[in-house]
Amino acid sequence: MIRKCLFPAAGYGTRFLPATKAMPKEILPILNKPLIQYGVEEALEANLNHIAIITGRGKRALEDHFDISYELEHQISGTSKEVHLSDIRQIIDQCTFSYTRQIEMKGLGHAILVGETLIGNEPFSVILADDLCVGEGTGVMSQMLKIYEKYRCSILAIQEVDESEVHKYGVIAGHQLDDGIYMVSDMVEKPDPADAPSNLAIIGRYVLTPDIFDILRRTTPGKNGELQITDALKTQAQEGMVLAYKFNGKRFDCGSVDGFVSATNYFYELSKNNSD
Ligand code: UTP
Repeated sequence: MIRKCLFPAAGYGTRFLPATKAMPKEILPILNKPLIQYGVEEALEANLNHIAIITGRGKRALEDHFDISYELEHQISGTSKEVHLSDIRQIIDQCTFSYTRQIEMKGLGHAILVGETLIGNEPFSVILADDLCVGEGTGVMSQMLKIYEKYRCSILAIQEVDESEVHKYGVIAGHQLDDGIYMVSDMVEKPDPADAPSNLAIIGRYVLTPDIFDILRRTTPGKNGELQITDALKTQAQEGMVLAYKFNGKRFDCGSVDGFVSATNYFYELSKNNSD
C-alpha cells in the first residue's frame, strides 16, 4: 500500500517574482488557503498521510504552516475565529511531515532524487502543489492509486491540451490500453507543435516505483544542467512499463499567473455558491 507522498517545493517560482522573493510559491493562497494545503488535502483524501516535502532556502514558511502556532492559537482560543484553523489542525493531526532540503535547484528529477532519503525503497506518489487539481467524484491522486493497484507500475497524470500549448509540457507517445489509460512508449519534453507525438501533456501528479531513483542516478542532466524526471521516466518506460492516465477533473496551472487567476475565480464562485 502506498502511504508516502512527496512534494517537491524547492523551485524558485520566478514567474511570481517579486511575490516569491521572500515567500515560497507554494504558500501563495487561492482564496484563504495556500497552494500546498490543497495538495496535502488531495494526498490525505487518497490515504497518503506521510507527507515528505523537498524544501530549499527561503522555504521555512512551509514547515511553519504545518505546525502549531502557540501564540496565535492562544490569542484566538475560545473566540469565533478559532474555526478558521480547524482544517489545518485536522491535517496536522492526521499526517506526519518530513522535510529535506535541495541545496542546488537542479530540476524536478533532482528534487525527487533528493527525496529518496525520505521515501526509501517503496512506491510513492508525487504532487506538484502548483498544479492544483480538482477531481471529479474522487481526487486525482485517489484515481491514480486505483490504477496503480491494478498495474503496479509508474503512472503519470496526463491531460489533453491545445496544440498551441504542447511546447510548455512533457508530451507522451503511446497506445491506449483501457479507457483513459495509455501505455507510454516515448516522451518528449517541451516539443514544437510540429514534432509533438500527441497533445497528451504530463501534469504534476505521479505514482512512482522506487527503481526510479537508480534510473535518475544514471540519467544525464539536460538543458541548464537540470535533471529531468521525464528523461528518467522515458528510460523506465523503455526498460519496463509506465502508464499515463487521463484523469477525471480539472487542473489549474497555478505556477502561471493566468492559471492562478482562473483557480482563484473558480474557488471564489464555488465558495459563493456554497454559502448561498
Ligand atoms: P517549475 O518548473 O514550476 O519551476 O517546477 P519553479 O522554479 O517552481 O517556477 P518558475 O518556472 O521559476 O516560475 C515544477 C515543480 O518542481 C519543483 C518546484 O518547486 C515545482 O513544484 N522543483 C523544480 C524543485 O523542487 N526543484 C527544482 O530544482 C526544480
